[in-house]
Amino acid sequence: MADHAILAGKRVLLVIAGGIAAYKSLELIRRLRERGVTVRAVLTEAGARFVTPLSVQALTEDTVYRDLWSLTDESEMGHIRLSREADLLVVAPATANLLARMAGGMADDLAATVLLATDKPVLVAPAMNVRMWQHAATQANMALLESRGVLRVGPNDGVMACNEYGPGRMAEPMEIVDAIAGFFAAESHRPLAGRRAIVTSGPTHEPIDPVRYIANRSSGKQGHAIAAALATLGAEVTLVSGPTRLPDPAGCKVVHIETAREMLAACETALPADIAVCAAAVADWRVDGASDRKLKKDGGGPPALALTENPDILATLSRPGEHRPALVVGFAAETGDVLTYATAKRARKGCDWIVANDVSPGTGTFGGSDNTVHLIRADGVESWPTMPKDAVATRLAEAVAGYFEGK
Ligand code: CTP
Repeated sequence: MADHAILAGKRVLLVIAGGIAAYKSLELIRRLRERGVTVRAVLTEAGARFVTPLSVQALTEDTVYRDLWSLTDESEMGHIRLSREADLLVVAPATANLLARMAGGMADDLAATVLLATDKPVLVAPAMNVRMWQHAATQANMALLESRGVLRVGPNDGVMACNEYGPGRMAEPMEIVDAIAGFFAAESHRPLAGRRAIVTSGPTHEPIDPVRYIANRSSGKQGHAIAAALATLGAEVTLVSGPTRLPDPAGCKVVHIETAREMLAACETALPADIAVCAAAVADWRVDGASDRKLKKDGGGPPALALTENPDILATLSRPGEHRPALVVGFAAETGDVLTYATAKRARKGCDWIVANDVSPGTGTFGGSDNTVHLIRADGVESWPTMPKDAVATRLAEAVAGYFEGK
């Protein structure tokens, strides 16, 4: 549980949309105010069918903002100011409808306008029927919002007001308070502020001709998660990504490339940097003299593809020199004697750390969500338990921050 002391003096703008869970938002206001948070509320038209403006006003001890077109509200507090004079916007309950309007960038009522006009972080607590939550439209809207940096708490599994069971129940007020405290704690923990980082991620595509290419199965999940985790700790991150199906992580500058040579050029452009993490699965070989015309079946049998070696980005960035990042981290995807191979790879490539993982068939690492890694440094090996790739990323980012501590 996050330490709630951090909440004192913070300003939250609470958007209450129209769902049965709106009654829990009254409790949320009380719990936040007990901890010294100033809560100002925006109530949607539908929200006002579930809780009365008077209750919200009494609990916040402030005006309840409801109408985009209210002259009184606009003259007291314009909607732009409303959206900026807060440290965090919390949407609870966040209905399917409001999430859709947020994802679509609509500004058709005060709540949506405030959420569109804000330059502050937003935390949503979704609440809806299980089928509405599981609908592809809602899932796509939520994923889009999260890729833009919107934070989420819940929904929880449970029996719903409609008597169905499953995910869709709004997080409990104290869980939302915890998430808010967690957000402020994370925001004040930025040990990598002022540091620049380059992260490579995903596969590379090496053309054979204009329509065909050589590639590999890397999903980019681990590299993208590392970029996001370094950014969360305050680093200014350039993510150089091969083709993936992932959204660009929030808070990073993303350079999209296809080939290994383009990846190297983008990394060199991003220098100088303090940190480089090479998590991409770069194709070792490219086709020598890729055809600029589509190769045709001309009756003469299959064409011979001559391969030539790609530049090694990790080894290039690790080379001693004026622009060498202070900390260069490589990955080693191995099968068999993982530690021996990875330790040798660290020496061969000249990097400072190697994150080694076992990608033998059956481990599910490639393309999967979990990873089991060993962190190999000059002074030894740390073996981490199997955990989600996001958690590996957070732990690695903390290790990077530890390296720079006091430097
Ligand atoms: N790497 C890179 N550029 C390349 C090849 C690899 O930057 N052209 C980086 C990867 O991003 C990773 C590390 O090097 O951080 C490990 O690469 P890997 O392909 O596993 O090792 P190899 O050198 O290819 O060795 P081997 O194939 O013998 O295991």
